[in-house]
Amino acid sequence: MGQIIACANQKGGVGKTTTVVNLATYLALAGDAVLVVDLDPQGNATSGFGLDRGDIVQSIYEALIEDVSVEEMVLPTAIAGLSIVPSSIALAGAEVELAPLPQRERRLSRILAEIRDDYDYVVLDCPPSLGLITVNALTAADAVIIPIQCEYYALEGLSQLIATINLVRNHLNPELAIKGVVLTMYDSRTNLSAEVNAEVRKHLGAAVFNTVVPRSVRLSEAPSYGLPIALYRPDSKGADAYALLAAEFRARDGRLATPSTAVASTAVNSPTTNSTTADPGPALRGIDTVASGGDAR
Ligand SMILES: Nc1ncnc2c1ncn2[C@@H]1O[C@H](COP(=O)(O)OP(=O)(O)O)[C@@H](O)[C@H]1O
Ligand SMILES: [Mg+2]
Repeated sequence: MGQIIACANQKGGVGKTTTVVNLATYLALAGDAVLVVDLDPQGNATSGFGLDRGDIVQSIYEALIEDVSVEEMVLPTAIAGLSIVPSSIALAGAEVELAPLPQRERRLSRILAEIRDDYDYVVLDCPPSLGLITVNALTAADAVIIPIQCEYYALEGLSQLIATINLVRNHLNPELAIKGVVLTMYDSRTNLSAEVNAEVRKHLGAAVFNTVVPRSVRLSEAPSYGLPIALYRPDSKGADAYALLAAEFRARDGRLATPSTAVASTAVNSPTTNSTTADPGPALRGIDTVASGGDAR
C-alpha cells in the first residue's frame, strides 16, 4: 500500500516545498512511483515542477470542495515516475469552505484512498498554518516529515506543531508516525547553524535525519526554472543533500539503502544514532507513545 507523507511546519520559509519537490524527485529517480499533492494555495510545488499556474484548470481544490475525482487532477512532471496534483489560488478559500462540511478533517484522506495504491509514496506539501488543510493532511498521512530551518528560532513553534500532531493522533489518525525532522539551510560558515544542529538533535534525538540540507544558492534558483535540483544542477551540494536524504528516507522504510553514501559531506553528524528503533528523544518520545498506546477514536 502506498505511504502518504505530509511535509508540515506552520512556519513559512523553512524549506517544506523545497524538501517536497526534491525529496519526491530523488525518490522517483530511485525507482519509486511518487505523487506530490500541492496543498498550499501559493502553489510553489506546482510551479517548482514547471507547471504554469495559469494553465491549471482543476486542482486539489475541486477534489476537496467539489467532489471531482482526484484522478482527473493528476498531471505528469518532467521526471519519470513522478506526478503532481496541483494547487490553485482557489485553495485559499478552502479553509473556510471546508469548515461546515461533514467529516471536514477527513476529506483529503477519503480522496487519497482512491489513488494511494497507485504509488509508493504520496507526498503532501502543506501550507504554512495549522488550519484545516494541514489537519486534513495529517489525518490522511501515515507519517510526517518536519523541516526545521537552521536559524535562531529554530525550535520555536515546534511544540505547537507537536500538539497538533497529538490532537490528530488522539481524535483522527492514531497511526500517524513521525518519519523524521530535516534540518534545512545549514550554513557551515556560521556557529549558529552548528549550534542549532546540536540543539535540535539534543531535543529530538534520532528523529532527526543525519542528512542536513545546506544553504545553497542553486536550490533557491531552481524553482525559477521550474526544475527540481536534480535536473537544474545535479552536481551541486544541494542536489547531493537531497539525494542523500532520499536514500536515508528509504532506508528508514527498509527500502534499498546506499550506506556507503549516507555519510557524505552533507551529513554533519555521526549516523550511528540513527535507526527506526532508536529513541526519538524526549520531545518526540511523548507523541510516539500516544501513537502506539493512544486512544483510537
Ligand atoms: N537549502 C536551501 N538553501 C537556500 N535556499 C533555500 C533552501 N531551502 C529553501 N530555500 C529557499 O527558501 C525559501 C523558502 O523555502 P520553501 O521551501 O519555499 O519553504 P516553505 O515551503 O516552508 O515556505 C524559498 O525561496 C526557497 O527557494
Ligand atoms: Mg511552501
